[in-house]
This record gives sequence, C-alpha cells and structure tokens, in this order.
Amino acid sequence: MRLSVKRAVVLLLMLFGACTLTRTLYEVLTCPGEVPRTHMVSIRARNWNQTQYRYNQNTPMVFVGGVPRSGTTLMRAMLDAHPDIRCGEETRVIPRILSLRQGWGRQTEERWALEDEGVSQEMLDAATRAFLLEVIARHGDPAPLLCNKDPFTLKSAVYLSHIFPNSKFLLMLRDGRASVHSMISRRVTIAGFNLSSYRDCLTKWSNAIEVMLSQCMAVGRSRCMTIRYEDLVLQPRATMRRVLRFLKSPWHEGVLHHEEAIGQPGGVSLSRSERSTDQVIKPVNLEALTRWVGHIPADVQQDMENIAPMLRKLGYNPKANPPDYGQPDPEVINNTERVLRGDFKTPMRLKRLVQVSASFNVFKA
Ligand code: A3P
Repeated sequence: MRLSVKRAVVLLLMLFGACTLTRTLYEVLTCPGEVPRTHMVSIRARNWNQTQYRYNQNTPMVFVGGVPRSGTTLMRAMLDAHPDIRCGEETRVIPRILSLRQGWGRQTEERWALEDEGVSQEMLDAATRAFLLEVIARHGDPAPLLCNKDPFTLKSAVYLSHIFPNSKFLLMLRDGRASVHSMISRRVTIAGFNLSSYRDCLTKWSNAIEVMLSQCMAVGRSRCMTIRYEDLVLQPRATMRRVLRFLKSPWHEGVLHHEEAIGQPGGVSLSRSERSTDQVIKPVNLEALTRWVGHIPADVQQDMENIAPMLRKLGYNPKANPPDYGQPDPEVINNTERVLRGDFKTPMRLKRLVQVSASFNVFKA
C-alpha cells in the first residue's frame, strides 16, 4: 500500500514535469507573429435548444456587405431563415473597430509610436480578432455557421480574411441609381454622402463599390462571391442555391420564405432601429426594382458614365433607364401581388424606435 502511494506521487511528478517541458518547448518554438495557442480566444455558447457551440479564429464564418441600400438586409434575413446559419442585426461597432484598426496599421507616426511602446501589429490583430469574435458570437443565437452583416465591413475583406482564415464574403451589388435613390428618398444617412445631391451620392457610391469589389477580388473567388440584388429578387431560388453551394451549406426551402421565420426561435431577428426592417418583413418582391426611374436629374443622367464609372463595370448600362434586369420567377410575381395588395404590415413591436442618437444611426463609410 505504501509502495503504491509512493509510485503514484512519482508518477504525478513525472506527469507534471512532462507538461511543463512540453509547454516551455511550445512557447519557445512558436513562430514570432503567430498567435500562440494559449492566446487563442475560444467562445462557448448555447442556443435556444441547449446545443453547445464553440467558436475560435478558425471557425468558418460569413461576412455580408455592400454599399448600404443594396439588399444586404434581405440577403442576411434569407440566410437567417436557414437553420444552420445565424447573421442577426447589424452590430454597428464592427466597422468602427475595423476602421480604427486600419488607422493603427498605416505607415504613420502613430504606428511607429505604438511599436516603440511595445504595441505590435500582431497584438492589435489578436485584440481585434477577439473583439470581433465576441461580438459576432454573442449578439445572437449561436448556430453552426456564424454570419455578420454590417454593410461597410466588406471594405476590409482582405484584413478580415487574414484574421479569420476560414471566413467567406458575400458582396451585394445593386444598380447604383437604385441604391442612391433609396438613400436619398428614405433619408438614410451615410457618412460622406450628401443626401441633397444625386451627383455626389452616385460619385461616392461608385468609389465605395470600387473599393469593395477590389477587396473581394483580392480575397479571391473561392472566398468572396458577388451577388446582384436584381438577381436575388428576380430569381431568388437560383441565386440562393448558388449562395448556399458557395457556403457549403445544404439547400433549405425556408430561405425562400424568410418572412415566415421572423421572430421564430433560431429564425430571423429584426431590429427596430434598422432602416430596412419595414421592407424585409415582406416576402422577396419587385416593388423596389425600378422605383428610381424618373427621379435622377437630367444633367446627372447625361453625365452618368463619368459620375459613376462603376455602373458600366458592373454591367449596368448607364444609358438605359432602366436596363433590362432579367425575368422574374412566377413565385416572385405572386409575392409582389400580395405585397401590393397590402398583405404585409409592420407589426407594432417592430415599428421604428425614436432615433436613439442621430450620430449612432449614421453608416460610417
Ligand atoms: P429600396 O429602399 O429601394 O426599397 P439594405 O438592407 O442593404 O440597406 O437594402 C435595402 C433595400 O433592400 C431596399 O431598397 C429594400 O426595399 C430592399 N429589400 C428589403 N427587403 C426586401 C424584400 N423582401 N424584397 C425585395 N427587396 C427588399
């Protein structure tokens, strides 16, 4: 009996020694710049039916974005209607953190000062990654595939692809004339866009989508996919099939009926302060497709090619008002008839909040 206690103590000591040695060797051999495993943030969360999920930087996730008013909310709501995917409401803080992080990475005096003070780029990456992961994982129900929709995050697709190596990106494209008419007529404030000028907004739209598209191309086709709003609303079935195949998620019929999943457990959660909530409560429909026609001032229309060169690059004929966007599926025609009949009204609990704060509701470009 005495012998076996002694043996047990020796065994424990040997085990402790081996653990310490392995740990020390690991720390010494880890490449500088790599996140040591001990520093890797891991988040555990349970969903409504008590299933537990674990997330870390290697977890696959999807970022949905585009210029605001390009159907980004519709896309995320359709994904939210899939049982394996959760996007949720805009976080608003993620694009702000990304823009701060970008500032610290520029070759400026601030960067040199930070490095001088022992704040390395690797440290800032690890902190940004931990912040993003915490917000994305915890601001809604956990799900097998996490998704984030903050329109301007796609301006940082290359950086995000680096800090989350298994992430994917969905870039929403829309005829810029429609997006701009939407922001002007609905008074959607976007930092840097002058809502009293179609010319100014179309110029800014063209610049913003150019940056996002180049980021998407730099990330590559295997990780970034572009989706036209017009295709999504005209042929939702074929478009969502393409999207789910890209995300390696199985087909689910529910994505074509996102309006039925609003407020359901594991379904679509909507925010009272987002500007698209009263549109996205409706099934996919054609109401907004050509609403911009007849609203663009004649001088802007004439100069369209120069004001918004990205229109032609994206395949939208700047001279056609409107261009031929394609043929609608019969189910979309049926949805549009129901919407025009007034079958879908915003429930009281989703009516917009009194502006929480004017500056908080501004999209930061
Ligand atoms: P309009 O303002 O032209 O109507 P985002 O969410 O990126 O800001 O995009 C908002 C646009 O998406 C709005 O365009 C809105 O109508 C459109 N949208 C939202 N829900 C939709 C639906 N169920 N069917 C068709 N378009 C929808």
